[in-house]
Amino acid sequence: MSLRLLDSGGARPGSSVLDAGGGAATLVDELLVRGMTDVTVLDLSEAALAAARRRLGERAMAAHWMARDLLTWAPLRRYDFWHDRAVFHFLTDPADRDRYRRVLDAALGPRGQAVIGTFGEDGPESCSGLPTVRYGGQALAEQFPGFRVEQAELEQHRTPSGGWQTFTWVRLSRAGAAATALAPAPAPRPGSLY
Ligand SMILES: C[S@@+](CC[C@H](N)C(=O)[O-])C[C@H]1O[C@@H](n2cnc3c(N)ncnc32)[C@H](O)[C@@H]1O
Repeated sequence: MSLRLLDSGGARPGSSVLDAGGGAATLVDELLVRGMTDVTVLDLSEAALAAARRRLGERAMAAHWMARDLLTWAPLRRYDFWHDRAVFHFLTDPADRDRYRRVLDAALGPRGQAVIGTFGEDGPESCSGLPTVRYGGQALAEQFPGFRVEQAELEQHRTPSGGWQTFTWVRLSRAGAAATALAPAPAPRPGSLY
């Protein structure tokens, strides 16, 4: 689903992608296989990033890795695509959702798109012992005023343990809202954990 929505948004090998809370997910592997040269995986957990880097071996050098708390991160550059699978739904505090929106706004380029997947309306009420907020398509879209919904999808996700989870996905673009000014910074060296 992540790849499908990024493809629908026109992601190409030259596009920059931030996988926000990417953890040890294999999206980065797939993006590198597609020849993407500007992929950043950001996650709070150094252990999750290390697992992904171990899995990729030398190919990990082709991606950027950031061990950071998304909610306090001050991006130094902008990305063409923001991808978040299963992170936003952990933000049960409205103040944290505000922080997330501010970081998204700072990190996304003026013509950027955000692909966000959360638990659906009848998805799990918690995950890994943490409470979640469940969203239908409209409710999720309403979390991002200033963005236009380009695509909304429901997914029945088969978990590794054989269960089913409903996910709601949206692909958003800026609805003409001017992004806050941010000085451009050079892309960091691929492969670095910074
Ligand atoms: C359910 S996992 C999803 C991982 C991956 N996106 C996937 O689809 O498999 C949630 C991830 O979000 C990360 N995370 C949670 N809060 C975060 C925060 N404030 N900043 C950065 N990463 C965070 C966790 O460490 C974890 O890797």
